[in-house]
This record gives sequence, C-alpha cells and structure tokens, in this order.
Amino acid sequence: MAVRVGFIGVGGMAEHHMKTLQKVEHVQITSVYDINQARAAEVAKQFGAVSYAGAEELLQSGQVDALFVCTPPFARTGIEAEAARLGIHVLSEKPVGLDMEQVRETERALADSGVIHSSGYCLRYMDIVAKAKAYLADKDIAMVMAYRFGGMPAPRWWRMLEQSGGQLVEQSTHQLDLIRYLAGEFQEVQAIHAQRHVLEIDPEATAYDVGTVSFVLKSGAVGNITSTSLAKYVGRGAVEFYGHNFFLSIEGTTLRIKDDHQDTTEKSATEYYLEQDKAFIEAIRTGRRELVLGDYSEAAATLEVTLAANESAAAGTRVQI
Ligand SMILES: NC(=O)c1ccc[n+]([C@@H]2O[C@H](COP(=O)([O-])OP(=O)(O)OC[C@H]3O[C@@H](n4cnc5c(N)ncnc54)[C@H](O)[C@@H]3O)[C@@H](O)[C@H]2O)c1
Repeated sequence: MAVRVGFIGVGGMAEHHMKTLQKVEHVQITSVYDINQARAAEVAKQFGAVSYAGAEELLQSGQVDALFVCTPPFARTGIEAEAARLGIHVLSEKPVGLDMEQVRETERALADSGVIHSSGYCLRYMDIVAKAKAYLADKDIAMVMAYRFGGMPAPRWWRMLEQSGGQLVEQSTHQLDLIRYLAGEFQEVQAIHAQRHVLEIDPEATAYDVGTVSFVLKSGAVGNITSTSLAKYVGRGAVEFYGHNFFLSIEGTTLRIKDDHQDTTEKSATEYYLEQDKAFIEAIRTGRRELVLGDYSEAAATLEVTLAANESAAAGTRVQI
C-alpha cells in the first residue's frame, strides 16, 4: 500500500522533496497546504494533489499518512504534535523551530504518540558519513573545525534573525549536526556575530552575515564553526576532525581519511535527499524506526546548541548547553 503524503509549506524545499518522492516506491502525494494559496494550487496541480484551505483541514482529511513540514523556521507552530495525535507520521525540515520550549513540547508529543518522526538532517544519509562514523567510533577526537560559506539565500525571512535564526541555526546547522552525529554532544559554546555588508542588501536586515562559534564537546574536544552568507562566489561546507593519530574530513560530499596506514579520498555515491526520504517512507511501511538517522529529537538537540550560540553572541558570554 502506498504511503499517502501531505505537505505543509510548499516552497522551494517542499518542491524538492516532492520531486524526490517521485523516485520513491509506494508513495502518493495527496495533499498540500500553504498560506500562499496560489502557490499551493500550482504545486497541487503539478503533483496531482488536493490543496486545502488550512493545515487543520489537511490533517483531518483522512488522506494523509505522513506529513512533511516545510514552512520557514519562524512559522513552526507545533503542527507536528497535532499530526502525531492523529497518528500521522512526521518529517519536519530543519531547523524544527526557533522556540526551544515549544520544540521540546512537540518532541514529547511525538514520543508519546509512537509515530515515526524524522527531520531534514539529510547529510547523515551519505554513505561516506556512515564510513566516517565507523572510523571515528574508537578515535580520540582532539579538535573539530567546520565551516559553511555561500551567498545569501533569496527568501527575505532568511535575512531576519527573528525569522530564520541566522546562518548557524538555519544553514550551518547541517555541519553542527554532523559534529554531534560523529563526535558527540556539545558542552559549551561562545559565538561572535557581525553584520558586515548585509545592510547594503537590505537596510532592515537583522541577521548577521559573518559569524563564528567556538565550542567544547562533552568529550573535551574543542572546535569552531565559521559561517558567512557574503561569499557569493563560493559555496563550501566542511567538517574536519583532528586527532593525534588521524585526520578525517568531509568536504561537500568527499571524505578524506589520513593516518599512518592510509591517505584515502572517496566521493559519496548516494543521493542524500533521496536516501533520507526513502528511509522515512520505509520506516513507516515496515516499522523499522532505525532507518531514520536523524529523528525529531536529534533535530531538537541540534537546535538547542545553535540557539545557545545565538544567546552567546547576544550576551557576549559563554553558554553551557
Ligand atoms: N534540508 C535542507 O537541505 C534544506 C534546504 C533548503 C531549505 N530547508 C528548510 O526548509 C524549510 C523551508 O525552506 P524553503 O527554502 O522551502 O523556504 P521558502 O520560503 O521557499 O518556502 C516556504 C513556504 O512556506 C510557506 N509558509 C510560510 N508560512 C506558512 C504557514 N504558517 N503555513 C503554511 N505555509 C507557510 C510560504 O508561503 C512558502 O511557500 C526551512 O526550514 C529551511 O531551512 C532545508
């Protein structure tokens, strides 16, 4: 039987999921809702779905087994909890919100309901990340360095700190999440953010366009994540792990491992968005929860660290997680 899928928020990312889901077996996109009704109607037509007048109507339609939540960060209202109470499985795009209290409440509702839940931490699904995880399992990581550089995304909400959370919450969250996945939990963060040119693009922008966060992991490893949205000529993201007897990096979709016995470079052979969506659908069909590599709780834990970095940048102090 096909898993019937509904979408709330059908902008760029939702459309990408829909195109990806067309490559997955046993899926039918049945329902969409977006506050922009013209956009919802256009997407509904394109994918043969029904456009609903409200999120509630979509959830109550009886036509949705699995919900994709793809609204911008500021528009997360805990709709996942309502879906879960109706027995609807949920994939919530990253970041799963901006209000930690609400996100923890949603997390509890999802756990209590027993539905399958997933998040948008797609990089976890790369084959090379599984290899990195296996390699690092018995290593003593001393230091981590990560970055995400690129141009400013087009949606206006992205430039407003209170709407997007800023680049670490919204974008470099992928790198931070990989660090949690591969090297363990964060202990404390200290961040510095600045607006260097963003006000020339949009005088009302409140988001920073350069930022860096230093951190200590629970293991004792120290590290840094640097982000900029000014770098319109490059698009780069990486996480590097340093130990006294090894080096491992994931730059884009390429893994490099160097130690006394090897110096190997390997490109990922998987399409990570496809693997992520396939895993979610298969977990629903088979009940095999372990196929989901980053559930809502994992996304909540990653969000908590990124929001702590914002708090640190605003207060100019270190913040404990
Ligand atoms: N995993 C990834 O690699 C990845 C990549 C891009 C975006 N995303 C995430 O996907 C989410 C959406 O990003 P996007 O690029 O598609 O943004 P977008 O601006 O293109 O689309 C957002 C859509 O949500 C709609 N919307 C806004 N408020 C709403 C509400 N209250 N109810 C219903 N619809 C509402 C808007 O009308 C718009 O159509 C963000 O959380 C973003 O971080 C993830």
